[in-house]
Amino acid sequence: MYKISVAGTGYVGLVAGVCFAEVGHHVTCVDIDQQKINMLKQGISPIYETGLEKMMQKNSALGRLDFTTDFIQAYKDADAVFIGVGTPEQPDGSANLSYIATVARQIAETIEKDCLVVVKSTVPVGTNDKVEQFIKDFIINDVKVEVASNPEFLAQGTAVRDTLEAARIIIGTDSIWAKEMLMKIYEPFNLPIVSVSRRSAEMIKYASNDFLALKISYMNDIANLCELVGADIQDVARGMSFDERIGSKFLSAGIGYGGSCFPKDTKALDYMARQNGYELRTIRSAIMVNNDQKTILYRKASNRLITFDGLKVAVLGLTFKPETDDLREAPSLANVPLLLERGARVYAYDPVGSDNFRQKYPESEYKIKYVKKPEEALSDANVSFIFTEWDEIKAIKPEDYKNLMRTPLVFDGRNIYGIESMRNAGVEYYSIGRQAVVENRAINLSNKYSTNQRFYSA
Ligand code: UDX
Repeated sequence: MYKISVAGTGYVGLVAGVCFAEVGHHVTCVDIDQQKINMLKQGISPIYETGLEKMMQKNSALGRLDFTTDFIQAYKDADAVFIGVGTPEQPDGSANLSYIATVARQIAETIEKDCLVVVKSTVPVGTNDKVEQFIKDFIINDVKVEVASNPEFLAQGTAVRDTLEAARIIIGTDSIWAKEMLMKIYEPFNLPIVSVSRRSAEMIKYASNDFLALKISYMNDIANLCELVGADIQDVARGMSFDERIGSKFLSAGIGYGGSCFPKDTKALDYMARQNGYELRTIRSAIMVNNDQKTILYRKASNRLITFDGLKVAVLGLTFKPETDDLREAPSLANVPLLLERGARVYAYDPVGSDNFRQKYPESEYKIKYVKKPEEALSDANVSFIFTEWDEIKAIKPEDYKNLMRTPLVFDGRNIYGIESMRNAGVEYYSIGRQAVVENRAINLSNKYSTNQRFYSA
């Protein structure tokens, strides 16, 4: 078993560190944020992630997992340092590598024995080469250091499972020493290992994430066309899914992909292509479709209503997807400001995301209320929007909209209800890529101009 240090206790770093400890390695997680480290030392996870906190507490108690801000102690005698710090998006779409550079410099100035540095953060192709050179430029002691790429593919909410039961481990290095050590570190996971060059590993991460983003944008594009021609995207997706070449996952049309990865990684790959004199047309299209898709419900509602002024609007779901409190690039953030601007009184319900949303939109400054139960949002409401498919929101029955709302007018961005059930309950219902239910009749109310115009002019 190895002595591993992990730089960064965000989603990537913390989950990796806890999972390495779980399989028996001795792990020290390092972060500059003292408050976060204090929380972690007390067994409290700063992120909402199924199973993480328990696993963290168990491994800390076993003495295999420790947290510190003292990077010197953590790095000096580590066999391997995994870097899992953030690479936030910059205004031009490129990735900000300053956190990686800081850790690289700390490693260079502290290591006292041979050390394998492993970059887990998503970084532009070629970054690992630069990180290795950077460490070698600043290294103080006469020890061997090599840098390998080991991207992760965890999704928020299922991060622990995605790590312990990953579909594959990507090891990117051109050195036998680094490859053998990484293979041994990952041996206890008993998972398929794909060993490639460093640059290919870096590209696999972007190519995988962006392929999934492309798949979602493709389905959203087809969904918009389904509305215009009278087809149903859910039936279309089901029919497509039987073809193993297409697969059954990531075919759900909705209000666009959000989160910390897809929006950032599509823009970063687009930027990387342009830097290299190439136009990545597929990914540019995925980005454009996604930008439009996020406000499609707002535009449908604007077509239906002459004003939002004074209306009570129920917003169901704030986070970018269920089982997370993360709001990054969430469709709610694209829609709620528009509703507030138009004078709506917003009543927002989310099982865990309200506190984060409140920080951006406090009740004292905006006409917004955060409620604890969906019924409070729906009661006497004129309109309701569904932005996240939480179980608590799926549990709302079609007749609840009819009974609780002043006017049962529902705009569903996640297609969580059957058309028939809403029609039977007497709810006016607009969703994505399906026929609308208006006055108990199914009609075609799509938003052809705004979507297409923006697409062609973008
Ligand atoms: C994603 C990848 O799944 C993961 O492999 C990668 O490492 C990081 O990015 P995450 O952002 O946590 O993970 O969430 P994911 O569950 O993949 O969903 C991303 C977005 O796509 C969400 O906004 C979700 O609502 C949307 N989505 C997903 C769809 O609109 N339709 C789908 O069929 C699937």
